[in-house]
Amino acid sequence: MVYTALVITVSDRCARGETADASGPAVCAMLQDAGYSLLPSLLVSDEPDEIKKALLDAVSQDAALIVTTGGTGFAPRDNTPEVTIAVCERLVPGIPEAMRYASLKITPRAILSRAAAGICGRSLIVNLPGSPKAAKENLEAILPALDHGLLMLRGGQQNCAAKK
Ligand code: MTE
Repeated sequence: MVYTALVITVSDRCARGETADASGPAVCAMLQDAGYSLLPSLLVSDEPDEIKKALLDAVSQDAALIVTTGGTGFAPRDNTPEVTIAVCERLVPGIPEAMRYASLKITPRAILSRAAAGICGRSLIVNLPGSPKAAKENLEAILPALDHGLLMLRGGQQNCAAKK
C-alpha cells in the first residue's frame, strides 16, 4: 500500500528566510525512499496559529502521515507538541517513546525533545526535532512500524501477528 505523506517544517528563522530549510528536504527524502507518496511540503513559523493551520490543512488534504520537524525543545517559541496534542483526538505515546529510546543511544540530549504523536481524523501526526541530524535519527527509529499503523488507521485488515 502506498500512503501519502506531508512534511511541515516549523521554524521562525526558516519562515523569515534567514536560514535555508535542510530538515524538511531530508525528511522528505527518507519518506520517499520508504515508499511514501509526498504531498507538497509546508513551511511555517513557530506561531501556534500557523502550526495549527498547517496541520489542519494537511489533514484536509487527507495525508495519511503528517511529519513536522522543529519546535519540540525548550525554547520559549517551541510550540509544536502543544499544538499537535490540541488537534489530535488520540495520542500515540509509543512513537515518541521509541524515538527517545533510540535517540538516547546516540545522545543524552534526546530527552530534551518533547515530540508528540497522535491521530487527527484519518491522519497520523508525528513531531520530529528540528536539526536534520536529529530529524533523520528520530524518523529512522519509527519508520518500520508506521505502515502497519496507517493500515489499521485506514481500515486495513492485516493480521497484527504477521511478522514484520
Ligand atoms: N535526537 C537525536 N536522535 N539526535 C539529536 O541530535 N537533539 C536533541 C533532541 N533530540 C537530538 C535529538 C536536542 S539537542 C534538542 S534541543 C531536542 O531534540 C529538541 O530539538 P528541536 O528544538 O529542534 O525540536
